[in-house]
Amino acid sequence: MKLTISSGDATKKSIIVRFIPKDARARLVRPATTAEFSGEPNSLLYCREDAVLHVGIGERAKIDGQTFRSAAGAATMFLKKIGQTRVGLSLDEWPQYAGPAVEGAVLADYRFEEFKDKKTIAIESLHVRVLADDLPNAKRAAQRGATVGEASNLARDIGNQPGNLLYPETLAARAVRLANDSKLKVTVLDEKKLRAGKFGGLIAVGQGSVRGPRLILLEHRGGPKGQAPIALVGKAITFDTGGISIKQAQGMEDMIFDKCGGIAVLGAMAALARLGVKRNIVGLVASAENMPGGNAYRPGDIVTAYDGKHIEIVNTDAEGRVVLADAIAYARKHYKAAAIIDLATLTGACGVALGEYAAGLWSNDAHLRRSMRTAAAQAGETIWPMPLFEEYTTQIKSSVALVKNSGGRLGGACTAAAFLHTFAEKTPWAHLDIAYMAFREKDRPDFARGATGFGIRTLVELVENWS
Ligand code: BES
Ligand code: MN
Ligand code: ZN
Repeated sequence: MKLTISSGDATKKSIIVRFIPKDARARLVRPATTAEFSGEPNSLLYCREDAVLHVGIGERAKIDGQTFRSAAGAATMFLKKIGQTRVGLSLDEWPQYAGPAVEGAVLADYRFEEFKDKKTIAIESLHVRVLADDLPNAKRAAQRGATVGEASNLARDIGNQPGNLLYPETLAARAVRLANDSKLKVTVLDEKKLRAGKFGGLIAVGQGSVRGPRLILLEHRGGPKGQAPIALVGKAITFDTGGISIKQAQGMEDMIFDKCGGIAVLGAMAALARLGVKRNIVGLVASAENMPGGNAYRPGDIVTAYDGKHIEIVNTDAEGRVVLADAIAYARKHYKAAAIIDLATLTGACGVALGEYAAGLWSNDAHLRRSMRTAAAQAGETIWPMPLFEEYTTQIKSSVALVKNSGGRLGGACTAAAFLHTFAEKTPWAHLDIAYMAFREKDRPDFARGATGFGIRTLVELVENWS
């Protein structure tokens, strides 16, 4: 997609997208009835003769960045569907939303069709029009939006790959390619190195599969030498069968998306490097395939994580926290991270608590928690604070080791967070459980089904505004 921004019109063949608040409906060139066009967010009215697509943005008081991200997305998806591939966003009245609007259009252009016979056409050109005075700011914002949207789509494309094609080794290969394209330093620790380095969690979870685990390390050194880095940590189970504590068949195919925490870290690191953010950041992607093979780890096993802490395995399906234990400990001990933020499709229980509307947020640091919430609000991603009561830590005490990897059904998302907290210790840390945000079964008006890239935009926002 070719992006242009100017105070002039788009090329003749473009369809102009106009953003219409509810109360401005009457001012349309060709007035429409409420039934034809409600002006509600994402409602559409296409006037073919004028080559104009009106998109509703609802009540003025409620308009924010997300309104524009979503409206531009809905407009883009509609135009793709009717075969129009040149889009002109008219933002004369709304220059402050150029960033989210472009981001939304880029995100809406993405579909996972690598293995489909019939492919939809991609958007060829996206033009943004603002008034001359607003041009410098809008240009910067639009370019940033495009960068973040594109990095998200690259990550989604990895996220959507099936388990037979994408496993820790091939994920690492793709990460290396993305890193090279984004000028990131990348290191991959393979099985041999993980064993030698005493990454007991990754080794344990990975040993039931013939495809060995990997720890992918990405570094962006945009800050001064010696500045302690922010660590972004992601769970990347390329397929989660549950292992010996095997899952039921129904819905198991969705477990190709159990790598999406790691995918979010990849996308965010690529975006941050491309944006040239002036800060030191490291990304850690802990990847394994959780299979019930002959050498699989068992319930009852005692595993020693990177920092020497012992874990009693009581359920091999609680594997995410076991690989994250290693990665979080490594961020703390090896990188001496200033803060650790992890993302994981960690628990079904988080979906029971919050539905598919918000990711759970846990943190041991009030300032970081606030920053996360502010960043997510800016990014148009919904996250919601959850507790770290002492009692959850008590619930995962083991009689044979320091912790056990499951505290049972009650408070399942919170005991999982308490488990991770054990490995972050006192380093400022935040955890996002994105189990029900990372992928969608169905197309939405502004967003295609499959991997969503959830978390990428929040992470980028967070790091850009770090204080
Ligand atoms: N990957 C799953 C969590 C999940 C469930 C993600 C549904 C997306 C959709 C995770 O590894 C898991 O199996 N968690 C268990 C934990 C339990 C065994 C303590 C769960 O949620 O049931
Ligand atoms: Mn599992
Ligand atoms: Zn899992």
